[in-house]
Amino acid sequence: MKVGIIGTGAMGSGIAQVALLAGEHVCLFDQNQNSVAKAVENMELQLSKLVEKNKITADVKQAALSQLSTTDTLSGLAHCDWVIEAIVENLDVKQAVFAELDALLPNAIIASNTSSISITAIAKACTNPTRVLGIHFFNPAPIMPLVEIIPALQTNADLISGVVETIHRWKKVPVVTKDLPGFIVNRLARPYYSEALRIHDEGLATFFEIDEAMKGIGFKMGPFELMDLIGNDVNYAVTESVFAANYFDPKYKPSTTQLRYVQAGWYGRKTGRGYYDYVEQNNSTEKFGKLMTEQISERILAMLINEAYEALRTGLANETDLDLAMTKGVNYPTGLIEWGRKWGKHEVVRIMNDLYAYYGEDRYRLSPAFK
Ligand code: NAI
Repeated sequence: MKVGIIGTGAMGSGIAQVALLAGEHVCLFDQNQNSVAKAVENMELQLSKLVEKNKITADVKQAALSQLSTTDTLSGLAHCDWVIEAIVENLDVKQAVFAELDALLPNAIIASNTSSISITAIAKACTNPTRVLGIHFFNPAPIMPLVEIIPALQTNADLISGVVETIHRWKKVPVVTKDLPGFIVNRLARPYYSEALRIHDEGLATFFEIDEAMKGIGFKMGPFELMDLIGNDVNYAVTESVFAANYFDPKYKPSTTQLRYVQAGWYGRKTGRGYYDYVEQNNSTEKFGKLMTEQISERILAMLINEAYEALRTGLANETDLDLAMTKGVNYPTGLIEWGRKWGKHEVVRIMNDLYAYYGEDRYRLSPAFK
């Protein structure tokens, strides 16, 4: 298969590597020629590292590189069977590119790697929107197994099984989700961050205490450590976008605390300072002790499970895909649907009802899935 990649930044170059190692022919295009040159250089470097680690043979590396090409015009992608777009996250710019692709490739599958823009809105730019869909990889694409497949409202449903099959062949884990804000992962994971911030903002627990509590129930990283790794700028932007796209539903409300960290430039690891200090490393391990460890973890977990069951109830994806998304996309120890079943749904009901009774806020409403 011939795969075209538009945008050779972090995501485009990672996706190119995945496709190449699955035996596809890959052609790269970016409006910035330096970006293409860098992507090719980096590809050689990454494949050499895999050879050194005995993950692939030198022959596989050579074969992959021999199937890599570049073009300095969009029309250079006219021979492709599939095109994946990974350019700037802006609807107008994406629509302009899709309109050009639509004319250039009347029969190809054209996909966007967007993490927050409606696939349906992107597809609108095409005269034939039936072959447009979202194929959403996670960062870094060569390492993270999950790929969300998102049909637009206009997408021909018959295409999906073929796309799923191809993503399997690329040695990734595909899940199919509706074109709703945040798709699966970026929506279901919101309470992990927002409820942690809320507990902190109420003065009930420290960052350290909350992180310890969540690691205590099997999460690899606590919410604050994870926000520092993702970058507070990126994490805050996702929260804001999901909040706005859901007509300001209070359960997705961002935290002013996180906004202040963004405004200070305290993005996390990449700037040396976030909720923790990565330069001096003298981080407080203070505990307020106002909530017991279990009260912290159960409150955040109940919010996560409540959101997952609401997504299931409203048909965002099936149970298997909802759980695969969280275990393969963000390394959760257990899928949230399964976790709800194992922990006991009555526990979720009890905690959500207690929170709702105490705060009287819509944010804490129990999903009708439990009723
Ligand atoms: P990036 O900034 O690393 O790379 C974007 C590339 O697109 C740049 O090389 C730029 O020159 C090029 N570009 C911009 N406009 C263009 C145009 N009109 N035509 C051709 N090339 C153009 O961005 P990144 O992080 O790779 O993100 C790309 C897409 O993937 C975005 O839609 C983003 O939301 C999505 N995404 C990003 C993830 C991440 O963690 N960075 C994760 C999953 C999805």
